[in-house]
Amino acid sequence: METNYTLKLASYKVLTIVAFILLAISNIISACDNSTIPTNSTQTKNDYAATNYRNKTIIPSKSNYTQTFKNYIKTSCNFTTYPSICYKTLSPYATKIEADPLKLCNVSLSLALKAAKSASSAISKILKKNNLTEIAEQVVQDCFGNVKDSIGELKDSLDAMGDLGGVDRKFQISNVQTWVSASITNDQTCSDGFDEMNVDSTLTDKMRKIVLDVARKTSNALYFINNNAY
Ligand SMILES: *[C@@H]1O[C@H](CO)[C@@H](O)[C@H](O)[C@H]1NC(C)=O
Ligand SMILES: *[C@@H]1O[C@H](CO)[C@@H](O)[C@H](O)[C@H]1NC(C)=O
Ligand SMILES: *[C@@H]1O[C@H](CO)[C@@H](O)[C@H](O)[C@H]1NC(C)=O
Ligand SMILES: *[C@@H]1O[C@H](CO)[C@@H](O)[C@H](O)[C@H]1NC(C)=O
Ligand SMILES: *[C@@H]1O[C@H](CO)[C@@H](O)[C@H](O)[C@H]1NC(C)=O
Ligand SMILES: *[C@@H]1O[C@H](CO)[C@@H](O)[C@H](O)[C@H]1NC(C)=O
Repeated sequence: METNYTLKLASYKVLTIVAFILLAISNIISACDNSTIPTNSTQTKNDYAATNYRNKTIIPSKSNYTQTFKNYIKTSCNFTTYPSICYKTLSPYATKIEADPLKLCNVSLSLALKAAKSASSAISKILKKNNLTEIAEQVVQDCFGNVKDSIGELKDSLDAMGDLGGVDRKFQISNVQTWVSASITNDQTCSDGFDEMNVDSTLTDKMRKIVLDVARKTSNALYFINNNAY
């Protein structure tokens, strides 16, 4: 196999992306696994604070509903892997979320879906420019397929969130967890595609930005589903 400087540089960049995403996934897995949460005292303190916040009776005056709801989002986002992205993305929807844990799941899922759709259209534009090398086109095309799969999984998840009323609630929640995790794996597979191929670094960087945005927002959504939906 050919190894030259450019290839090494490209591999290095992609490895950085993959490391990023693996870090996100390992954080998610530790958030899912109840037994690992208490080993991290920061996390335990935060979860405790969130539970207290949720259990408090919130009777805000009309003038500061929004602020109260924004505070709820800030507190909830504090425990996610990407707190500032979480707050920035969700705070405009404060009055919609209303300090309701399930609405928080719904809205964060919808925003992950929105990010995936905009990633899909950005990637589609890159493909239309028609100036990619054959290899680059193949890698970007595969990535496009992965992001489309993510969109399907996020849509299925949102549908299932509307179907939590019956006896199958636990089953539906576990489906949502599976689909949202699969969606993150798809984002990772997309980045993996650049690993073995010699794709120019400008394109790799561009794709990294596009896919990381989706992966981070989806990771935040999964955190809320694992912790707020039961
Ligand atoms: C994990 O937490 C959920 C909800 O808080 C609970 O129903 C479940 O029994 C817990 N699982 C373990 C292994 O402790
Ligand atoms: C606990 O989690 C926080 C934030 O998630 C992290 O900064 C810290 O390093 C963790 N501590 C340990 C002991 O893992
Ligand atoms: C809402 O308003 C009340 C009284 O005006 C005040 O005591 C409370 O701190 C305010 N809450 C927030 C979150 O701003
Ligand atoms: C977020 O967590 C930090 C410590 O990890 C804490 O100091 C801060 O008050 C928390 N913020 C909110 C809004 O809960
Ligand atoms: C393809 O064209 C766009 C502008 O149309 C440019 O930004 C991009 O760098 C080009 N990509 C390659 C691989 O030449
Ligand atoms: C969550 O969204 C679904 C539709 O996607 C809806 O049917 C359901 O009522 C929503 N749940 C809450 C708590 O808003």
